[in-house]
Amino acid sequence: MTSRSTARPSGQPQAIKICQFKLVPLGESAVGKSSLVLRLIKGQFHEYQESIPGVAFLTQLVCLADATVRFEIWDTAGQERYHSLAPMYYRGAQAATVVFDITNQETFARAKTRVKDLQRQASPSIVIALAGNKADLANKRMAEYEEAQAYADDNSLLFMETSAKTAKNLNDLFLAIAKKLPK
Ligand code: GTP
Ligand code: MG
Repeated sequence: MTSRSTARPSGQPQAIKICQFKLVPLGESAVGKSSLVLRLIKGQFHEYQESIPGVAFLTQLVCLADATVRFEIWDTAGQERYHSLAPMYYRGAQAATVVFDITNQETFARAKTRVKDLQRQASPSIVIALAGNKADLANKRMAEYEEAQAYADDNSLLFMETSAKTAKNLNDLFLAIAKKLPK
């Protein structure tokens, strides 16, 4: 955490706190983890997003009234064969987005397993946000909003339905995470 002073128009110096947090997106392959990050950071969406094995490292700033939050995002591939590597990725993470695809019920079940993994192995103070992604495909919905919301409430998770395609709730999700993190 660092602080720096800037002059306000009135001439009064104001300290801006910059807080840095590691955030890991988790969830099944093809639920849209990379697409959400790409939309958030670059404002882009690709119908045929390539799966990148390994880790992509990206940063995003979120400005709050009293602090600027800098997210260090470690985007990893969700394929089961990388699953055993997951604890290595979320070591030291202060935040996680656990993503599922609302058109695929199985990915919701897997998301719950990822939440359990985090509750067991990650930092006890980790902020977890559940994201029901592909909300633009609501006509193909297989996972119910109310069920996911109830699960999130029971487990003290943030929850939003998002779309990397339309950007729905994306800024709000990261804003909610930034607000919940201790600064
Ligand atoms: P892995 O890296 O393999 O773990 O997958 P991933 O979770 O990063 O998924 P990725 O972002 O690669 O997206 C998989 C596919 O879903 C791509 O074809 C995307 O274009 C599509 N996709 C992602 N998000 C959305 C969304 O919100 N709406 C729609 N309609 N398609 C999406
Ligand atoms: Mg990916």
